[in-house]
Amino acid sequence: MALEKYGRFSDDGREFIITRPDTPAPWVNYISNTRYTGIVSHTGGGFSYWMDPRDSRITRFRYNSLPWDRPGRYIYVRELDGEYWSLSWQPVPKDLDFYECRHGMGYTTITTEYRNLRGEITYFVPPDDDLEIWRIRLQNKSYEERRLSLFSFVELCLGHALVDLINQPNDQHFNIVKYDREHKAIYATKNYWVTYKEATVKQPNQAWNKYVFFTTSLPIISHDGSKDAFIGKWRSESNPEGVERGVLAETDITAGDACAALHSEMTLGPHEEADFIVLLGCVDAEGYRDKAHPIIQKYLDLRNVESSFADVKRYWDSYLSSPQVETPDQNMNLMLNTWAKRQAWVTFNMNRNAGYYHGGLLFGVGMRDQCQDMMGPLLAEPDTVADRLLEVLSHQFTDGSTLHNYFKLTGQGEKTGHSDTPLWLPLAIMNYLKETGDFAFLDKTAPYQDGGEGDVRQHLERAIEYTLSNLTPNHLPKFGPGDWNDTLDYVGRKGIGESMWVAEFLCFILRESADLLERIGAAEKATYYRREYDLIARALNERCWDGEWYIRGTRDDGGVVGSSKNTEGRIFMNAQSWAVISGIALPDRASQAMDSAYRLLGTERGPQILAPAYRHPDPGVGLATRCVPGKKENGAIFNHVAAWAILAECVLGNGNRAYEYYRQTMPNNQAHDPDVYKMEPYVYSEYVTSPEHETFGQASHSWLTGSGVWMLRDGLDYILGVRPTYDGLMIDPCIPSDWDGFKITRRFRGAIYEIEVKNPNHVQKGVKRIEVNGKEITGNVLPLATEGELLRVTCILG
Ligand code: GLC
Repeated sequence: MALEKYGRFSDDGREFIITRPDTPAPWVNYISNTRYTGIVSHTGGGFSYWMDPRDSRITRFRYNSLPWDRPGRYIYVRELDGEYWSLSWQPVPKDLDFYECRHGMGYTTITTEYRNLRGEITYFVPPDDDLEIWRIRLQNKSYEERRLSLFSFVELCLGHALVDLINQPNDQHFNIVKYDREHKAIYATKNYWVTYKEATVKQPNQAWNKYVFFTTSLPIISHDGSKDAFIGKWRSESNPEGVERGVLAETDITAGDACAALHSEMTLGPHEEADFIVLLGCVDAEGYRDKAHPIIQKYLDLRNVESSFADVKRYWDSYLSSPQVETPDQNMNLMLNTWAKRQAWVTFNMNRNAGYYHGGLLFGVGMRDQCQDMMGPLLAEPDTVADRLLEVLSHQFTDGSTLHNYFKLTGQGEKTGHSDTPLWLPLAIMNYLKETGDFAFLDKTAPYQDGGEGDVRQHLERAIEYTLSNLTPNHLPKFGPGDWNDTLDYVGRKGIGESMWVAEFLCFILRESADLLERIGAAEKATYYRREYDLIARALNERCWDGEWYIRGTRDDGGVVGSSKNTEGRIFMNAQSWAVISGIALPDRASQAMDSAYRLLGTERGPQILAPAYRHPDPGVGLATRCVPGKKENGAIFNHVAAWAILAECVLGNGNRAYEYYRQTMPNNQAHDPDVYKMEPYVYSEYVTSPEHETFGQASHSWLTGSGVWMLRDGLDYILGVRPTYDGLMIDPCIPSDWDGFKITRRFRGAIYEIEVKNPNHVQKGVKRIEVNGKEITGNVLPLATEGELLRVTCILG
């Protein structure tokens, strides 16, 4: 496989091993305990933050920079003859004798060899304290004694990252970096902190509420707190003056660009090895010395570092332990057992915010994204999801509308009026209930953004009823300033245009909520929701069937989006897939819609979001039409959309086609030509360029995409078909007919289900017989069991 040109998965699948540094793009990983987070590339590049990458940024990252991927977490090694290099290849990119980077679950290890010195640096964040640990091992592979100078370096941002970026000439007047001789550590903060969006208007009268510390286990000979002093005039991280000189300038700063650089020395005898540690972390500003000191003491002890590293591994072993699958497709196993789960954990915690391609400056926590991302951690940590759900609900208004996004540290956000946003709350609540059976959760209370509070059930109903109160005279939802597709942003701003996709999504939520309400004895409300479902479904079928597929929307100006009447943007996948998922499509239309989508949107790398791409900006549609054809929402293979197409094909029972889309879009398949694909082969990217652009096959926006979690749940819940219902775990596989079967082990409400599915007749769907512990059951919902019980399940398809 050509992927091997740059790397491969480890045998246990838990690491991606990059074997040469000059990858087509920075290939990154996350180290995080969900409070302290670092993004680490395979060259040591990336930034760190606490809680929110905009409001509480620790280190800098240079956007659109040349060279790529700077700055980062660097260790420079210098020998007596003045030759120097770095342990992560960058920023002093020498022609190394050996290079390897292992991106693992919560850690990254980079190993290099140069001049017979082997350097291994592992970056990770311990679960209990808010810092990152760099654990370094050096090995002298020569027969000579080596005298080494070592320089550890980070460039500091200190506080509000957007202000740092746009107001640097002023912002730097508030930086404080000083070396503390007693603690043998650099401490840094900023005497000014902007916590609100109106940053540039309001002058804040406060200091950043954090102090950063940076230290090492080696004796410190010299240091720098001034970036200019460390780097020197007209230089860069590639040739810092401090390193070239061999000793640092002992700068503390009260103004200027901040860095933390520490210089130590080490002598290594022939074939001798030595370990040392570098720590970068943050504590509350108040009493920071007393708070930082014990943490520093703790982690400068290698034994504590080792045991925290073991904790990280243990956490991930447990997190990934369920479900585990064995299908005939090794790449699918890798994604479902490890990487899609890992990616969903990252998207749940980093949102569409803390990433290489999102910058961490603008987006905060997107409500709709967060509600979907919950489906990942729900498999392993339902309690964490319950807490997050309550946090999300607290950003709903009393009328049922919601903020579109919010910032964790300020509790503020934007209210944009996107027509879909409130509806994601009910989905997240119901997903939680199906997994846990914890109906008491409906009685928990959460505040409203504009005051007062309500129980979870009220939050759910208000989201639905708010959407129902915003229908047009045709009984269809208004498009508003956008729906799930943010870039259809001028279809319906005047309140006339309608979103067919929101209509379908609303129907789905109405049907699901009616089921829930009946179950908890609210029959009247359930009937109301079902009546609304029927009315909207009828409006959709009467007004929105185009002949061979469903249209995507109507415009304020009376035009239509996603119709054969259009020359561009004639068909949209979401309007077809959700017609099926919501059940609104009449039976013959359901298949016809998905067949049209397959025919008109299918490519060898997965289905396009829409086709043909827009080639002329259309002010009555918006941003999608301004984007280059074949990329992003203008006709790319948008993986989130592909995931819903897979779900819809599963609903229709088309296992072969569902799997065809699934296989096409998996990153470890896509990256068979990594120089074309470019992004990381181990996580989904937001999209892959479609044949409508000359860079067909190139991926973009890796890591932070809803496709990670949806592809995870598609694979587990719909293709393998083992999914939670209120009554128990349902088995309803929809697989490619050439599969002989598969195995899946899944924890559900405390019990363990070991499930083997056999497909002797090579069907795509249809359960013939299920045995639980050797006894046949009726139906395809497995009985609930007691905590810790193991159930052996055999299922025969046919
Ligand atoms: C981006 C946004 C997501 C949106 C999608 C489609 O991924 O984060 O919220 O639904 O684009 O526009």
